[in-house]
Amino acid sequence: MEHNELKEKILELKEKLPVTLVAHYYQRDEVFELADITGDSLELARRCKADDKEWVVFCGVGFMGQSVKVIAPEKRVAMPKIACCAMARMIDSTYYDESVEFMEKAGIKKEDILPITYINSSAEVKAKVGEMGGMVCTSSNAYKIIEKGLASGKKILFIPDRCLGQNVANMMGLKSCVIGDGKDPNEADIICYDGFCSVHQLFTVDDVKFYRKRYPGIKIAVHPECDPAVVAVSDFCGSTSQLIKYVNELPEEQKVAVGTEYNLVHRMRDKNIYVLSSTKPECPTMNETTLEDVYRTLKEIEKGEVVNEIQVDEKTRKWAKVALERMFEL
Ligand code: 13P
Ligand code: SF4
Repeated sequence: MEHNELKEKILELKEKLPVTLVAHYYQRDEVFELADITGDSLELARRCKADDKEWVVFCGVGFMGQSVKVIAPEKRVAMPKIACCAMARMIDSTYYDESVEFMEKAGIKKEDILPITYINSSAEVKAKVGEMGGMVCTSSNAYKIIEKGLASGKKILFIPDRCLGQNVANMMGLKSCVIGDGKDPNEADIICYDGFCSVHQLFTVDDVKFYRKRYPGIKIAVHPECDPAVVAVSDFCGSTSQLIKYVNELPEEQKVAVGTEYNLVHRMRDKNIYVLSSTKPECPTMNETTLEDVYRTLKEIEKGEVVNEIQVDEKTRKWAKVALERMFEL
């Protein structure tokens, strides 16, 4: 089917069925423009929970659809593609247990550890965190959540993104280490798991130098999944929605180079905007969802035979929900 025909059919089905089509900012343009709700991971989780349609058709990566099912089990959640975020795939329950053991071997008692997981993790990992008294954060509230965690007087085990953990620690003037870097965790306030985003690792200090030299006066804005060395030489570091706000508030003639996913950056503005990289930093998993996938999923809902419906077992759901709700309480 040709693109426009496919779009029309999707819009017709959307009218007819009890569905809300949801898309993360990193989705392809043609999928993004058809969505009823768009946003970053925190906004999407919140808005899906409040939505009143029976079905959420979620265009994003696996942990995002799973999070909706965890916080709103009465909803039916389908994903046109269940693509797993590369960072979320870096940690599972076993690696989580090993991280806790690493801290215990260093002499830190389990009851003195507070785990905080970035929302980019599976429901199973979130459940482990919830069961141990911990909570979830996103890049837009990581600072606040870690601040709250530190008030308990415990050591923070931050998973899975070492960059987000280190960047927040640097912003707060705290000490951090990464499991495996040889540093003593007793000396650190935040102990980070060694996970990372392969897309945000593409932005380098050399890229920043290049754009500053090429366009004197340019502003550099990056996502906190970027390496701390890149964040240190940037003008602004913020989550997806914070980056959008930052760019929108700059005068139109102010040049800006942005270090985050390509689909979002190219949609931010028409003029005076640059992707902070000589490569095209597309998230391969976010880009997996196509119009054909969305159409097929809506047809399946119409027939009552949905292939990619998200299910989370009750024990996992219970504790993952606790971890997510501790975040929403803030
Ligand atoms: P946001 O929480 O900003 O939506 O980011 C999710 C993500 O995967 C960034 O790479
Ligand atoms: Fe995961 Fe990185 Fe893609 Fe975000 S950009 S979904 S962290 S792989």
